[in-house]
Amino acid sequence: MPVNVEDHRLRAKRRLPRFVFDYVEGGADDESCLRRNRADMERVTLTPTCLRDVSAVDSSAGLFGRRWRAPIAIAPTGFNGLVRPDGDLLAARAAAAVQVPFSLSTASNTRMERLGRETDGERWFQLYVMTDRSIAEQMIERARQAGFTTLILTVDVPTGGNRERDRRNGFRLPFRPSLATILDLCRRPAWLAGLARSGPPRFVNLSPTEDHEQSAELQAALLSRALDRRLSWDDVAWLRARWDGPIIIKGLLHPEDAVRAVHAGVNGIIVSNHGGRQLDAAPSTISALPAMVAAIAGRLPVLVDSGFRRGSDVVKAVALGACGVLLGRPVLYGLAAGGEAGVRAVLETIIAEIETTMTLIGAASIAEIGPQHLLSHPSVFHRTPPS
Ligand SMILES: Cc1cc2nc3c(=O)[nH]c(=O)nc-3n(C[C@H](O)[C@H](O)[C@H](O)COP(=O)(O)O)c2cc1C
Repeated sequence: MPVNVEDHRLRAKRRLPRFVFDYVEGGADDESCLRRNRADMERVTLTPTCLRDVSAVDSSAGLFGRRWRAPIAIAPTGFNGLVRPDGDLLAARAAAAVQVPFSLSTASNTRMERLGRETDGERWFQLYVMTDRSIAEQMIERARQAGFTTLILTVDVPTGGNRERDRRNGFRLPFRPSLATILDLCRRPAWLAGLARSGPPRFVNLSPTEDHEQSAELQAALLSRALDRRLSWDDVAWLRARWDGPIIIKGLLHPEDAVRAVHAGVNGIIVSNHGGRQLDAAPSTISALPAMVAAIAGRLPVLVDSGFRRGSDVVKAVALGACGVLLGRPVLYGLAAGGEAGVRAVLETIIAEIETTMTLIGAASIAEIGPQHLLSHPSVFHRTPPS
């Protein structure tokens, strides 16, 4: 029985064809950012405060007027249908059962209307803006009608990261598998049977209606993340005029951008390096977080992702000033390993670990986690905000 995220990862590795596991697991270039996310996380230590009453520990957290079981949410990940048929739906149901938000990617394989009909939890929609702005505009309108509460604008993809694992595996649209990939597929009958039942996953949310087929070029452009490179801070006003709910900007690492986000009128930011999949030279998010929190200076909620694998990692981010953490790959490991139950198990495991960590550091609520638990702060962390 899997007892932690790593156990789910190993199960996912056994179940998925190599090209799918590599797509999920891989980072850009030499994958140094991917490793840095974990290495810096391990350098942060939590110093316990003792003899506090921790007989009842409450990990619930609030954001935008709502409360969640814990300060975690499911990150938007594209192509969940490749990990498991109806992957978006299964993950969204698990999030609803555990009472944490689920984010649906622009590059998802389940139509947002179906998600709205068949799940009842909190749903956020992640927007990629492609050169044809009308695609974003129709998606925003549909997201509103399908009951999505929050819009995430991802801004760290002016071009696709250099994922060399995908290039080696021939993973692009149209898919041209290598001989090694075809042989590997033959050894994954359970995954193949799922694909045979559901058909190849498509980027169904690009189209305004179910029967409207998007061009193969547009689908390929989304897979390789050929997005609108002209997108700038001025465009946030265009988005603001179309969405009256919360808007969160995802993919910021620079404190100057944090200040710009405050002035752009958004409602939150996600400090993210896209799980090490974009700029390989980028800093780890846990090391970038203190300067981002200092730059925001309490004016907006700061969320973070990339490399969070344990409940104690989430507590570290909260101690550094984040109000929540998004989980990408851990959710996909659970989805591959056990579908909806697998995602639920991953989320429950992380929440249990958060509660154990809180008990051990002497924090009975999320509000009681703070800088007092961070006595030894690694020197790579910079707190100085821009002048
Ligand atoms: C397979 C995969 C697909 C992703 N697709 C998207 C996407 O479509 N949109 C987006 O904003 N971020 C995407 N991300 C980034 C995640 O939202 C998140 O930033 C990242 O996974 C966090 O790091 P972690 O996987 O270490 O938790 C993707 C990440 C992975 C692993």
